[in-house]
Amino acid sequence: MRLEGKAITASVNLTGNHASPDEADKQVLHIWGRQPLAGHVKVSGAKNAALVVMTGALLCSGDCRLRNVPVLADVKRMGQILSALGVKLTQNGDVLDLNARDISTSEAPYELVSQLRASFFAIGPLLARLGVAKIPLPGGCAIGARPVELHVRGLQAMGADVQIDHGIVNAYVTGPNRRLKGAKIYLDYPSVGATETLMMAATLADGETTIENAAQEPEVLDLANFCNSMGAKITGAGTKTITISGVEQLHSTDYSIIPDRIEAGTFLVAGAITRGDIIVGPVIPDHLTAVIAKLRAIGAKVTAEGTNQLRIVGAPQHTGTDIETLPYPGFPTDMQAQFMALLTLSEGNSVISETVFENRLRHVAELNRMGADIRVKGNHAIIRGVPFLSGAPVVATDLRASAALVLAGLAAQGKTTIQQLQHLDRGYESLEDKLRGLGAKLVRSLADAEPDASLVSQAIAVQSTLN
Ligand code: UD1
Repeated sequence: MRLEGKAITASVNLTGNHASPDEADKQVLHIWGRQPLAGHVKVSGAKNAALVVMTGALLCSGDCRLRNVPVLADVKRMGQILSALGVKLTQNGDVLDLNARDISTSEAPYELVSQLRASFFAIGPLLARLGVAKIPLPGGCAIGARPVELHVRGLQAMGADVQIDHGIVNAYVTGPNRRLKGAKIYLDYPSVGATETLMMAATLADGETTIENAAQEPEVLDLANFCNSMGAKITGAGTKTITISGVEQLHSTDYSIIPDRIEAGTFLVAGAITRGDIIVGPVIPDHLTAVIAKLRAIGAKVTAEGTNQLRIVGAPQHTGTDIETLPYPGFPTDMQAQFMALLTLSEGNSVISETVFENRLRHVAELNRMGADIRVKGNHAIIRGVPFLSGAPVVATDLRASAALVLAGLAAQGKTTIQQLQHLDRGYESLEDKLRGLGAKLVRSLADAEPDASLVSQAIAVQSTLN
């Protein structure tokens, strides 16, 4: 696709006729900073909930209708993986219909799984439903090695025979009806993915399963609610102990995904970093407790607007704070990079300690290119607030790092140009349109086409006719 002299709008759908990841890595995003953002922005459905709920549809042979599914590259990839397994999918806007009656294979294709780690979580529902699952090890990614031994050990505790051969995890259940057995499982670490994999597997197991030291993330609770809407018997999701009484089969459902707390948090930071005044919703405010606490700690004003919206008013000058990323309800690792962008412009010193992933500070070098003063020692980033950032060409290294660069660009003097947009497109639905709706000046173009400022005005004019 080549667009000359035109802004490119990022969008993806399951039928795949929009910017593919390959195209996105040839595009760049130009941001002209220092526009205070104002207005209301709509939050999409939660990416991480949607992805795992999609794999949960494998548990049932009836129709599953999912609503509030974000239109994202990752959702498209998950759709391709499920389709390769024989699931029928139809997408209409944010409504996704899935039917897994005729699963034609228990083997997921490596080329697709390697691009989307969350697809490994399909091992739980596939094994529960078919008694056999072959899923390639997803491998590491930009933010860390990301092993899966907690998933594997839990499935073994439920009676599965699991062998890893040539990079493929082969899991089988033998015995009567090839059915997993309920088990008592303790997770050494409250892994989100392992909790989800095992919870899904246990829905169809024979007997009761308990998962101790389970992840408490809202997406785990959303998955449990989805499974329960199909007739599963799960209690305690959202706490450290989840109990699942296995049932023989699950039935059709119509389920709406929760709002994306990380997208909402990213917009809250956008409001603060531009010293703007924006309303973000829908949100479930309790999902953002740690993020709101830190925004207030640095001096931003965050207030509830009704039951499901938050208003943020940025302070003229924010002050630094320390942050440690932790499993929920602690501060989310998925908001660490965005907050770092904000702290670069907050007065005084801040320390961010990344405890969840071992390699999630790669955005530091790019923020420093924009004039930030950040030093890394091990898993700690020491940030000295600077009075301003300067727009610069920068490279996105992963999904949330790219969001951090967008935020820094919104606050910086002059123009920032971000490369490697395929990372951004994985997890933010219509981000550029949404930001333009708040008054940001930004435009996507091909890397070799230099847009001029008039394109920005056009982009804003187009946006206002869309609203
Ligand atoms: C999910 C989210 C991701 C988020 C993360 C932590 C999805 C699709 N992704 O990822 O956006 O950043 O939770 O909130 O939902 N670990 C092991 N062994 C295992 C499993 C995990 O050592 O078997 C380690 C990981 O390497 C990592 C930590 O546990 O250091 C947290 O990982 P986990 O909670 O499993 O994250 P994901 O489910 O992969």
